[in-house]
Amino acid sequence: MAKEIKTIGVLTSGGDAPGMNAAIRAIVRKSIGNGVNVKGIKKGYQGLLNEEIIDMEKKDVSDIIQRGGTILGTARCLEFKEEEVQAHAAEICRKHGIDGIIVIGGDGSYRGAQALARHGINTIGIPGTIDLDIACTEYTIGFDTAINTAMQAIDKVRDTSSSHERCNIIEVMGRNAGYIALWCGVANGAEDILIPEKYDFNEQNIINNIITNRKRGKTHHIIVNAEGIGHSTSMARRIEAATGIETRATILGYMQRGGNPTCKDRFYASIMGSYAADILCEGKSNRVVGYRNGEFKDFDIEEALNMHKEISEYQFKVSKVLSQ
Ligand code: ADP
Ligand code: F6P
Repeated sequence: MAKEIKTIGVLTSGGDAPGMNAAIRAIVRKSIGNGVNVKGIKKGYQGLLNEEIIDMEKKDVSDIIQRGGTILGTARCLEFKEEEVQAHAAEICRKHGIDGIIVIGGDGSYRGAQALARHGINTIGIPGTIDLDIACTEYTIGFDTAINTAMQAIDKVRDTSSSHERCNIIEVMGRNAGYIALWCGVANGAEDILIPEKYDFNEQNIINNIITNRKRGKTHHIIVNAEGIGHSTSMARRIEAATGIETRATILGYMQRGGNPTCKDRFYASIMGSYAADILCEGKSNRVVGYRNGEFKDFDIEEALNMHKEISEYQFKVSKVLSQ
C-alpha cells in the first residue's frame, strides 16, 4: 500500500541554477492541484536542519518563472553526509507533517534525498545544475541559460582578441565536467577547448596550434578552458612567453549561474517540476526525474547515481577542424 501523501516539502540544494524558480512554481501549483499541501524549505538541507520551513500557496510562486536564482535559497551542508544528521532531518520532516520532499539539485543533493528516503521520507529528485553532469538525464535545468550567458561573453572577448591580435583563454564553470566548455567552444568557434574528460595536459600542442594559426594569418586565438582544468592565468603567462603573442585570461565565474532563464530552462523546469509533484503525490519515492530519448521519465536514485556518461569524441574534435 503506497504511503498517503498529504503534505510535501520542496528544497533547492547545491549550486543554484536558472530555472529552479520555474521548477518550484510547477511543484507548488501541481501539488496543490493534486490536493496536497506544500512547505518550502529554505537554504537546502541546512535550512531543513534549522527548521526554516514555510507554508506555500499558489500565490507565493507568482511572478518568479522568469527570475534566476531560487526564492528558497540554497546552501551546501557537509554535515548532511552524517547518518545521525540525516535521521534528525527525517524527524524534523515528521514533526512538520512532511510526508515527502522534492529535491532540486545535482548528484550530491540526490544522495541527501536517498538518505532521507532510507529514513522513511518519500523523496524525488529533479536535475538542477548548470553543469549537465547528471548521467541519467540528457538535460539539467540551468544548462541552456548558462551556456548562452557564457557564449555571449566569449563573443565579446573574441572581438577584442581580434582587435589586438591576442590569444585569449576564457575559463567557464562546470566543476569537474566539460559540457559548458564543449558547447561554448563549438558555438564560439574556439581554436582550442580544454576539458577534464579529454585534456592531455600537453601545453606544447596548444602553443604549436597558436603559432601555426598565426602563420595562416589568423588574428585571434580563443581557448575555452573548463574550470576542472583551471589555472587560466598562469597558462596565459606560459603561452605568451612561449609564443611572443599577448595572451590574456578571463574567468567568467558566477555570471553563468544567474540571469533570466531561457525558454528551454523554463519549459524543462515546468515539466520536470510537475512530473515530480505527480509521482510524489502518487506515493513514489527514491526516484529522480530526467529527460532521455525524447521523453521525461523517472529512475531509481541508486540506479541513476550508478549511471555514467561520456563526452562524444566526435563532438570534442569537431571544433578543432571547424576553427582551422
Ligand atoms: P550538487 O547537488 O549540485 O551535486 P553538492 O555536491 O554540493 O551539489 O551537494 C549539495 C548538498 O547535498 C551538500 O551540501 C550536502 O548537503 C548534500 N550531499 C552531498 N553529498 C551527500 C552525501 N553523500 N550524502 C548526503 N548528503 C549529501
Ligand atoms: O555545480 C554548479 C557549480 O556552478 C559548478 O559549475 C561550480 O564549480 C560550483 O558550482 C561552484 O560552487 P560554489 O557556488 O559553492 O562556489
